[in-house]
Amino acid sequence: MSKRKLYIKTFGCQMNEYDSSRLTEALHASHGFQSVATPEQADLLLLNTCSVREKAKEKVFSQLGRWRPWKVSNPDLLIGVGGCVASQEGADILKKAPFVDFVFGPQTYHRVGMMVDDALASRQHVDITFPEIEKFDCLPERRVDGPRAYVSIMEGCSKYCSFCVVPYTRGEEYSRPLDSVVTEVFDLAAQGVREVTLLGQNVNAYQGVTHDRKTVDFASLLRYISEIEGIGRIRYTTSHPLEFTENLSIAHAELPKLAKHVHLPVQSGSNRILSLMKRRYTREYYIDVIEQLRSYCPDVYISSDFIVGFPGETEQDFQNTMSLIEQIGFDHSYSFLYSERPGTPAAELSDDTSEEIKKERLYLLQSKINEQSSSISQAMIGTMQSVLVERVSKRSITQVAGRTENNRVVNFTADKELIGKFVDVRITRAMPNSLQGEFLSISKSLVEQTH
Ligand code: SAM
Ligand code: F3S
Repeated sequence: MSKRKLYIKTFGCQMNEYDSSRLTEALHASHGFQSVATPEQADLLLLNTCSVREKAKEKVFSQLGRWRPWKVSNPDLLIGVGGCVASQEGADILKKAPFVDFVFGPQTYHRVGMMVDDALASRQHVDITFPEIEKFDCLPERRVDGPRAYVSIMEGCSKYCSFCVVPYTRGEEYSRPLDSVVTEVFDLAAQGVREVTLLGQNVNAYQGVTHDRKTVDFASLLRYISEIEGIGRIRYTTSHPLEFTENLSIAHAELPKLAKHVHLPVQSGSNRILSLMKRRYTREYYIDVIEQLRSYCPDVYISSDFIVGFPGETEQDFQNTMSLIEQIGFDHSYSFLYSERPGTPAAELSDDTSEEIKKERLYLLQSKINEQSSSISQAMIGTMQSVLVERVSKRSITQVAGRTENNRVVNFTADKELIGKFVDVRITRAMPNSLQGEFLSISKSLVEQTH
């Protein structure tokens, strides 16, 4: 049993990557599973799925189709399907792909060990319930490798934007208790982690219960984490404009460890579309939030998510989004073509915009964002940036790589002994996807701040 091998194929965002790494830790602790680099080597194949956009179900079944012959030739091979598609399809997965051994949802991956035992006893298992807190209580302690780590602080979403499946697949918003999050970060720092990214669909909706039954909000959580020795930088993703409070803006001004980079999805710059999307804020409200944040923290970088081609989006609606992009000066952002999600209210809306026009709009929007993000990179040339050294560079073994506060990868010549340290780097060149720099010294200020 101790030599069993595990391969997880993950679709989707950082949240799914995080879930997969916790799942790996759980299966290592309970059954001694070791991760392997290719699926051919595995005794247990898991699919961790995402259904936020396009053809998720089709992707899952075509992947399973590729794995099926392996199961036929090796009946001892175990196959499990998890994540959002599993949550939506449930037992139907076993009907369509009877060779699958078990199906688990985003809130039940701590029970996968039991499902493996059932599978070994030839019993199929489906568990896509939302048992809230139980998941984090049952997971083993984190074992990380490297100076950066993700920490989930809340799960699910209760916003019900008209286009989105997340509230249905991941359940309602649930915040982990304060002590549980703080203890996890504390343990990570003891293992050498220097930067944490707090994860959740809407991290700033955080309402964590304390040991004395009070609740703390997201800005207070940041203050607690900022006190943890060893942690030198804190990031978070994703936040929602509705809960971007003044206290959170103040935290950005007052906490030197908090990266001056906020990812705040706006989706559209048209009030008509925002209302159809059920985002519950206007373009003006969003601008006010950013102005308030900048009044406390003038040098903060702002990135966002955009949906192009929402049902009924007119040329004027699109132009309103383009003008907002310019007005805010968004840095590198994510943009997607609207993808109809079965069961969501937006799927009922009529849409007469051609795919060709939608693709053209996406191209224009992405070109605009790329232009802005490249001018930001150009303006960084000659500046000194604090960089957490993460690894040997992919470009050359004599170089190392890390990220700036505004999340740009910088490559520079320096000793790999610096991995895990914050260093000051002068930016010398800006390329489309990374920066080149010159090592100056170990960052004094951050060394002091982390102790
Ligand atoms: N909490 C975030 C917010 O405030 O909007 C969003 C989290 S959502 C899982 C990630 C991103 O996926 C969204 O910001 C949106 O741009 C995109 N997305 C969600 N549903 C989509 C759909 N049906 N079509 C295209 N993009 C979608
Ligand atoms: Fe989805 Fe809207 Fe929540 S985009 S994750 S329902 S904030």
